[in-house]
Amino acid sequence: MTTIDEARVEAHYTRENLLSIIRDGLTAAGFDPDSSDASALSAVDEFHIGGSEASRFVGEALGAASGLRVLDIGCGIGGPARFMASTFGYHVTGIDLTADYVAVGNQLSTMVGLAEVVTLQQASALDLPFSDGSTGDGAGFDAAYVMHVGMNIADKPQMMAEAARVLRPGGKLVVYDVMTQREGLVTYPLPWSDVPEDSAVDSLSAYEAALQTAGLVIEASETKRDFAVVFFEAMFARMNAAQAAGGDGVGGAAAGGPGRLGLHLLMGANTREKVGNVFGQIKDGLLAPVLITCHKPG
Ligand SMILES: C[S@@+](CC[C@H](N)C(=O)[O-])C[C@H]1O[C@@H](n2cnc3c(N)ncnc32)[C@H](O)[C@@H]1O
Repeated sequence: MTTIDEARVEAHYTRENLLSIIRDGLTAAGFDPDSSDASALSAVDEFHIGGSEASRFVGEALGAASGLRVLDIGCGIGGPARFMASTFGYHVTGIDLTADYVAVGNQLSTMVGLAEVVTLQQASALDLPFSDGSTGDGAGFDAAYVMHVGMNIADKPQMMAEAARVLRPGGKLVVYDVMTQREGLVTYPLPWSDVPEDSAVDSLSAYEAALQTAGLVIEASETKRDFAVVFFEAMFARMNAAQAAGGDGVGGAAAGGPGRLGLHLLMGANTREKVGNVFGQIKDGLLAPVLITCHKPG
């Protein structure tokens, strides 16, 4: 198994002055950054295929019971965590490798009034800073999820072992990652990596083996290919309309956001190429986002 250099992954995601760029984007889109609710951020803070629609199906698969203590593994700037807290009433702890994302994410949660129910901290998914969930002393998360993170983690057995370790018995784990659907050469850049060396995109069977080795029971696996195609077709229609209107054809349209608010703020100058490559390979049947629901035996 190749290993992935975490410093390179963090460098891939780090953007200078991200908070002020997002605040400027909010203002340009017609929102007041100091009195917006969390949904105003969804064009930029949900860094996965399907935006808040995907966060909704992940959140529903976790149990949808208010007050659940939920861990977001690879939380990014916290969009899914804020969505889960405001939609389902979960108390979400997020961890992410990218220190700047964690700092910006916590500031965004404060801005939208969710800092009491969403807490993000810097850590690796391979070494979670939490005690074991099986000790019977009330420790342990009721549920955990991973959204578009495993493509940067080669050691999936260790990732799933850590997730399983911190869950309470009976706790759910939901994984929503981009996976390979068949053998074939993957073309880069992609949203999670500019080069093959920093990517560990893998097959559903590799995930399932890692989950089972971690002692988790798989309940369901569902390929979200058609959902992804609809999502990207709409995104490209917006980007093309923006280009026809004289813009750069990326802008907020990349994420469905108004004006200057969009995932291009996270993906940088080659956003269109990254998005085009992932969409093309999903259409070709080489890649697809897949949803896996499992639980730790009670
Ligand atoms: C494509 S983003 C997804 C962010 C978030 N889950 C979302 O859906 O908005 C991938 C995230 O995984 C994080 N990541 C990559 N490798 C990681 C690791 N070993 N441990 C923790 N986070 C990691 C990155 O820093 C980045 O924030």
